This record gives sequence, structure tokens and C-alpha cells, in this order.
Amino acid sequence: MTARSPYDTLVTVYGGSGFLGRHVVRALAKRNYRIRVAVRRPELAGFLQPLGRVGQVHAVQTNLRHAPSVDAAARDAQVLINLVGILFERGRQRFSSVHTYGAEQVALAANAHGAHMVHVSAIGADKDSPSAYGRSKANAEQLVLAAQPSATIMRPSILFGPEDDFFNRFAALARFLPALPLIGGGLTHFQPVFVGDVATAIADAVDGKTRPGTIYELGGPDVRTFKELMQFILSTIERKRLLIPLPFFMANLQAMFLQYLPKPLLTPDQVELLRFDNVVSESAKSEGRTLQGLSVEPEPIEAIVPSYLWRFRKTGQFRSRIA
Ligand SMILES: NC(=O)c1ccc[n+]([C@@H]2O[C@H](COP(=O)([O-])OP(=O)(O)OC[C@H]3O[C@@H](n4cnc5c(N)ncnc54)[C@H](OP(=O)(O)O)[C@@H]3O)[C@@H](O)[C@H]2O)c1
Repeated sequence: MTARSPYDTLVTVYGGSGFLGRHVVRALAKRNYRIRVAVRRPELAGFLQPLGRVGQVHAVQTNLRHAPSVDAAARDAQVLINLVGILFERGRQRFSSVHTYGAEQVALAANAHGAHMVHVSAIGADKDSPSAYGRSKANAEQLVLAAQPSATIMRPSILFGPEDDFFNRFAALARFLPALPLIGGGLTHFQPVFVGDVATAIADAVDGKTRPGTIYELGGPDVRTFKELMQFILSTIERKRLLIPLPFFMANLQAMFLQYLPKPLLTPDQVELLRFDNVVSESAKSEGRTLQGLSVEPEPIEAIVPSYLWRFRKTGQFRSRIA
């Protein structure tokens, strides 16, 4: 994308302090890019600095809902990466303001400063989705490509890695609940993808290895149902729990109450998302808009998840079964 060397290339990572963000910052630091992390609370992003050399990673304050701060963080940058996303709405953090308006501001700033944009969306982005999350992600993609037709868009399936929200959350619930719910019978398909593989694909896009104006769909090597993922978590943490099918309408009823928790376990909008498979499409596979198309061999959950879920075992890092 750029003839500059990574040492001379400044990459602004909006949302760089999040789960995916720290892996993207690490991947870019390894490739010697200069990195500016743009987040609302840069004082909480100090943990990113050891991922690079002294002075290589720097955090600035930005709110995607505030266009001038988005523009200020784009100054002198050659690449802008937008990783900002929310799973539920709170106060002024709405899907429309953070995902849609925010992404458009990053794309406009990219154009204004002559930078290339890499935007992270999600599998499930669909303008006709019954979920506001899915619709806001689809609208964002459309606005980003309208503002910068050469932008690269990455749609991951559910991410796994040491700080993930999915495997850690259900493993934590299994510690004290006698049963885990199988929302909608647990039949929805997922293609969990290692956060490090998605970070590699994003760093490849910064290197200029992706096709311009293309939407990539990033999934792991295996497709699993929700039920199979729950069974995998339980066997990994060596706990026996009942798996109880919970019809969508019951899950929705529960979510109506759970959504008011400070960090909701489930929201009605997430129940809507769970109705649809979250897997890489056949067209993305045939057109090479995948990790494999970028020559990234995705890691399976078995290779990574046990390395951080062991803490939910009764015996911790020690095996309960003695040979
Ligand atoms: N995690 C998954 O399984 C998954 C799956 C598919 C797609 N994705 C997408 O991947 C992207 C990254 O997800 P993630 O899991 O890394 O999310 P995350 O851990 O929640 O990180 C979100 C980041 O955005 C920042 N942020 C939030 N609101 C902001 C605002 N108004 N202005 C500026 N920064 C803001 C947060 O920092 P501050 O709070 O300090 O501002 C944080 O750095 C998102 O777009 C998400 O939709 C994630």
C-alpha cells in the first residue's frame, strides 16, 4: 500500500486497547510500525507500551462520537484501523453513534489525511438483520466504502484468545451454575477464530497484502454448534453440567431483565443475533476473501483455549486425572 518502510509509517489504531486491539498492536509492533492508539481512556492503555520498543506505541484520547478528536488522531498517519465496537448500548454509546457514525468519521479522516483505512466489522453485518448490532455494522461498512472505496474490511466470526468474552464467560458461569443454557436449542453454528490470526490478517492489510475495497470474512478451521462449544468448554474445564435447551422466546424474556446488569450477560439484541449462523460464507471462500486466502492458517480452538481456560478447573493447572 505504501512504499514507506514500517519505521516511517504511522498507524492509528482506534480501539487499540480492546481485546483485539492489544493483539493488533503487538502484530504491528513486531513489524516495526509506529503505532498511535486512539481510545477514550488513554491512561488505561499503558499496558500496550511494553508490546513495542520505547516510544513505538503511544496512546491519545479520542471518542469516535466526537469527529474533531477522530480527525486529530489521524494527523500524519498513513493507515487508520478502526476496531471500536460495543456489544450492548449504554448512555451515549449507541450502535448507531459508535459503529455507524464513528466508522464514517474514521473513513472521512482517512480521506482527509490521505491514509488507507482498515475497518473491522463482524460476520452477521446485514442491513436486514433483526439485530440493531448487525444493522449498524452493515451500515458502517456501506458508509466506509462510500467514503473510501479502497478501504479493507474485515468481518471476523466470534474471537477466542486469553482475554475473550465468550469462552471465559461460559467457563466462569459453569463454576457456580448447575446448568448452562443452550439458547435456541444450541443449534446455531459458529466458526471461532483465534484473535492472533485476525491480528495477523489486519497487519497484512497494513502491509498492503489485501485487495482494495474488499470485505474479508475471517473464521477458524472448524464450524461448531453452540451446543458443541458448550461441551468443549465443559470438557476443557473438567466439569459436568447439564445443558438445558432454552427456546429463543425464553432467552429473550430472560435477556429483558439481564440487559440491565452493568455488564449484561445477554441482551434481547444478542438473542436476535444468535438466531443466525455466524460462519464464513461460501462466496467469501470461493473468492479467497478469507484467512486462507491471505495465507494465514487458522488455529483451532483445541490448540489455544485450554491454555487459558485451565484456571476454571477445580484443580487449576494440575490435572485431576493421574496416569
Ligand atoms: N470480540 C469478538 O468476538 C468480536 C467478533 C466479531 C467482531 N468483533 C469486532 O471487533 C472489534 C474489536 O472488538 P473487541 O472485542 O476488541 O472489543 P473491545 O475489547 O470491547 O474493545 C473496544 C475498544 O473500543 C474502545 N472504544 C469504545 N467506545 C469508544 C468510543 N466511543 N470512542 C473511541 N474508542 C472507543 C475501547 O476503549 P475505551 O473504552 O477506553 O474507549 C476499546 O479499546 C469491534 O468492532 C467488534 O465489533 C469482535
